[in-house]
Amino acid sequence: MSHAEDHEGTRRDFLYYATAGAGAVTAGAAIWPLVNQMNPSADVQALSSIYVDISGVEEGTQLTVKYLGKPVFIRYRTQEEIEAAKAVALTDLIDRTSENPNKPGTDASDINRVIDDKEQWLVMIGVCTHLGCVPIGDGAGEYGGWFCPCHGSHYDTAGRIRKGPAPENLHIPVASFVDDTTIQLG
Ligand code: FES
Repeated sequence: MSHAEDHEGTRRDFLYYATAGAGAVTAGAAIWPLVNQMNPSADVQALSSIYVDISGVEEGTQLTVKYLGKPVFIRYRTQEEIEAAKAVALTDLIDRTSENPNKPGTDASDINRVIDDKEQWLVMIGVCTHLGCVPIGDGAGEYGGWFCPCHGSHYDTAGRIRKGPAPENLHIPVASFVDDTTIQLG
């Protein structure tokens, strides 16, 4: 007896609990050996959500998870990073308008880039808006946020493009807090 092609589960949510510590990944640039088990096929992607346990993520570090085939950076920002981002005038930004799908119609001020107004948590798709490389995090680049070495794009501590060829800020996925230690993506 052969198995029929099983495309059931089109509405299945993918549950993923990242263990920080050993699993947390802070480097960028294609080194993010996390979560390959959740790799939904194209027909289920649009309907999928995942839940990420952030309880083990330490301040000043970033967890990278894979969601819909792309890395998603979840950074627990330090107070210094938050202050640095808030101190930037909108007029100094290359991209002032890039959209946070969770806050449609707002500008790229720091508070509009975070999830549910929790300033410590920045959730972004880890794909450079130039040609799609994965930027390096951990305070990299001239603005202390992320740096894409492919062609030299510098992002600040709110993931906003400040220098280099990338035209837009790092994109933000649909995301929300389910409780204090769980973020839902999608
Ligand atoms: S892909 Fe990031 S700078 Fe070119």
